[in-house]
Amino acid sequence: MDIQSILEQMTLEEKAALCTGASAWTTTPIERLDVPEMTVSDGPHGVRRVPDVTQMALESYPATCFPTASCLASTWDVDLVRAMGEALGEECIALDVDVLLGPGVNMKRSPLGGRNFEYFSEDPYLAGELAANFINGIQGKGIGTSLKHYAANNQEFQRFSIDAQIDERTLREIYLPAFEKAVKEAQPWTVMCAYNKVNGTFASEHDELLNKILKDEWGFEGLVVSDWGAVRDRVAALRGGLDWQMPGPQGRHVEAVVAAVENGELDEAVLDESARRILRIVAMAQATPKGGDFDKEAHHALARRVAVEGMVLLKNDGILPLKGQEQIAVIGHSAENAHFQGGGSSHINPTFVAVPYKELQALAPDAELTYAAGYPTDDSFCQELIDEAAGLAQSADVAILYIALPTFKESEGYDRTDLDLTEQQIALIKAVTAVQPKTVVVLNNGAPVVMSDWIDDVSAVLEGYMMGQAGGGAIADILTGKVNPSGKLAETFPIKLEDTPAYLNWPGGAGTVRYGEGLFIGYRYYDTKKVPGQFAFGHGLSYTTFVYGNATVSAERFTDSDGVTVSVDVTNTGDVAGKEIVQVYVRDHVAGLVRPDKELKGFAKVSLEPGETKTVKIALDFRAFAFYHPEYGQWITEDGDFDLLIGGSSADIRQTLTVTLDSSLDLPCILDEESTIYEWLADPRGKPLLEPIYIKMEAEARAMFGGGENEHHDTNGAIGMDIMDMFNDMPLVSVLMFQQHQLLAHPEDIVAGMLAQVHQA
Ligand code: BGC
Repeated sequence: MDIQSILEQMTLEEKAALCTGASAWTTTPIERLDVPEMTVSDGPHGVRRVPDVTQMALESYPATCFPTASCLASTWDVDLVRAMGEALGEECIALDVDVLLGPGVNMKRSPLGGRNFEYFSEDPYLAGELAANFINGIQGKGIGTSLKHYAANNQEFQRFSIDAQIDERTLREIYLPAFEKAVKEAQPWTVMCAYNKVNGTFASEHDELLNKILKDEWGFEGLVVSDWGAVRDRVAALRGGLDWQMPGPQGRHVEAVVAAVENGELDEAVLDESARRILRIVAMAQATPKGGDFDKEAHHALARRVAVEGMVLLKNDGILPLKGQEQIAVIGHSAENAHFQGGGSSHINPTFVAVPYKELQALAPDAELTYAAGYPTDDSFCQELIDEAAGLAQSADVAILYIALPTFKESEGYDRTDLDLTEQQIALIKAVTAVQPKTVVVLNNGAPVVMSDWIDDVSAVLEGYMMGQAGGGAIADILTGKVNPSGKLAETFPIKLEDTPAYLNWPGGAGTVRYGEGLFIGYRYYDTKKVPGQFAFGHGLSYTTFVYGNATVSAERFTDSDGVTVSVDVTNTGDVAGKEIVQVYVRDHVAGLVRPDKELKGFAKVSLEPGETKTVKIALDFRAFAFYHPEYGQWITEDGDFDLLIGGSSADIRQTLTVTLDSSLDLPCILDEESTIYEWLADPRGKPLLEPIYIKMEAEARAMFGGGENEHHDTNGAIGMDIMDMFNDMPLVSVLMFQQHQLLAHPEDIVAGMLAQVHQA
């Protein structure tokens, strides 16, 4: 397709129509110019290709339902994520889909978010790494992706309208970096804007987010598509950088665009640019012929591998793996009816579904299994089911409780109101553990549940997440020890809801949600505030043990443009092969602005035979040490010392190295009329100008208020603060005002003169 020539031949009406969908899932074709339609489908963890593209309906062709993002993220395995992307690409080809609507990289601001199961993590670095690999996997097959939902779509409450109020630094450091990394490293064909507003403007009309940051600053080359129904004012959205409105058709909006161009309200160049971006992606889609079949068995097996690597063994007193000869009471509705995906637009029609009970029996043929449902599917309470289950548990050697958080508690479209299992499930666990000390809990849910009511009474907990269609087999793999668990949490599990970072600012009201906790979500909050969690970010157990040693760094003193590489030896000291996820966090000793206690900046998953040692190397670049400074309007580094914390989780740091950074940045001067003495002294241009004045100022101040440095005595004779500590935090001009009598010029003129000099320098 010669895009420029097509664009030149297109009428205004055709361009306006192209920028809106023709149906629920397709672009508008222009037959006259041989521009075909392009088909998109949900997403993200499977292909939900509807038979009739004019319908929004949830029925779809069978496709592999892979584990959802919470489970996928817990693999921390970028190669596996890429392999899953490739499989999704193959299914798109077979099912005639040009663009898969995913991945979702919104941050898990609160575990209450109804859609957290579709998102990777509370950490932007981890989410960005995974998303980039997911996208590269799919796009490597010639199929497009849609990175969503841009930006700050972190809750379901009033998701179509809520105004997320987020300060600039928090947006840049927490809510945007996963998008930024994915765009810069993988160039998704499309980015989907969020429904909500961000700082007063709909994400679909957000010039700053769409045009300035996404397209200009990050260099996004693809098209921006609206979330389904996110466009209110089509003309404002085009101006704001929203290229393609979905779903279609939207005749009225198309007419509005035509009218706006005709009456001069919308520059036709803006429409041309959106049309050009859409044509480019339609052309890319054409390059991959569709049709054929995909390998259902192979993809089911891959889904099992992802699930087994993503499940997280949270607790184990040694009961797991099972010996295989036990009498096992299998309890829980989800043992017979796997709960493997979430409600809403991501719902996949699976090709097969592994039944957890049967899979366990298959891997433990010598064990004697009995089954009781334990809890109903609805919200009713049924003591009989509990009594029956407890009876079975009592007469068995071990009880395995399969507990799934029901969809009425967790789905797209609404947030959770608590972090609890159902009343019946909690009562069931208590009744079973009262008669059977050897109890294992297997959870299927999309986001953390609280466990303090029962965790101490159970022997083991396996977090199975929404494990995809093959997850039933993956649970059996882990319970029987066929596979050694290696997943680690990509989110913190709190002890109670009240401990969660956004608790006081969730979910907002009166049309607004204030992100009052700022940078401090997830472990950034728990670790900085020293709030204990139930299970830390990065936590996950194995059937073997790993020892870390010989941590070294490529340079103890370095510049940010060079970065450093951390090396550490990891040894499997147990009897079985296993995989360890090595994490590197960075802690800034002293910073100009408040920073979290530590932040994840690198990780690697390493596979080790018993007794084997491997050296893991993790590179840290400029961004590993930088923070976003709103006054400079950019990421900055500062000179100084940093700890590199190497460990198995955010709470399990095994080795610490300290390095010294020499910043290579030549930052613009940000001193102004309000700058304090501290700020003048901290600025390399301000300091030499202020120093001679400061010496006089200090002498004058000490003469006036008495006392030498650190020696000031208050009227009671107690040692108090140094008077200069008080002055140093005042604007220079205000301090000078106190000393006007001995100045040769007015303080305002003095400061104005100094500012002129520093800004010239
Ligand atoms: C969801 C998107 C989804 C779209 C199409 C929206 O409601 O927020 O994630 O891709 O519908 O189904």
